[in-house]
Amino acid sequence: MNDNFSAKAVQWDSPDKIKMTQKFLSEMLLHVNPQLNWKALEIGAGTGLVGLNVEPLVAKVVMVDTSEAMLGVLKEKLNESSKVEILHGEVFDYKKQDINFVFSSMAFHHLNVVEKTFEHLATITKSGAWIVVGDLVTEDGSFHGFEPIPYCGFDTEVLSNQFVQAGFELEMVKIYNVITRVTEEKTSNYEQFMLIAKRL
Ligand SMILES: C[S@@+](CC[C@H](N)C(=O)[O-])C[C@H]1O[C@@H](n2cnc3c(N)ncnc32)[C@H](O)[C@@H]1O
Repeated sequence: MNDNFSAKAVQWDSPDKIKMTQKFLSEMLLHVNPQLNWKALEIGAGTGLVGLNVEPLVAKVVMVDTSEAMLGVLKEKLNESSKVEILHGEVFDYKKQDINFVFSSMAFHHLNVVEKTFEHLATITKSGAWIVVGDLVTEDGSFHGFEPIPYCGFDTEVLSNQFVQAGFELEMVKIYNVITRVTEEKTSNYEQFMLIAKRL
């Protein structure tokens, strides 16, 4: 498995990333009230900046990521009583239909085919399950320095329709944060959206 995050993993938990993930977490928890009997699944869990804050609120969190290096940093934060199950791979590798809550922060633009992900989510979630996706609104590619990336952000209307097609009901789409980067040449603003859907 190609690990695009191997060089970034050890420095991932920077103050900026912690702040960014806290914004996602606070917004998500305004709309979803996790229950202690829920099984949650995080797509692109990375070093656990979001998922480890959800862990105390649910029965279990399955943390899915393709990067061994990012998961290595996450594993160092776990202990014997952790309610975390690590899945090194893609969400397609999870096959049970027992998930009540799926969340993902800034990972969807790295997925190869998002439509297939929605279809798969419909097969692993229980009726009434919550799905929360936070990612970039369509940008010009400069967010990743014009490196090839599966998605330069998303058109939230297109994404919402794809969720509905896959068997989800749209609950909310909003811009919850703007990342500003300033260089000598210009100031760039990257909007982050949150999409919340429920499995029918
Ligand atoms: C930008 S990082 C975000 C990490 C974490 N969610 C956070 O907010 O700190 C994207 C993460 O998605 C993971 N990733 C990329 N492609 C993936 C895939 N197809 N399936 C699961 N995880 C993937 C990367 O390894 C990386 O850890």
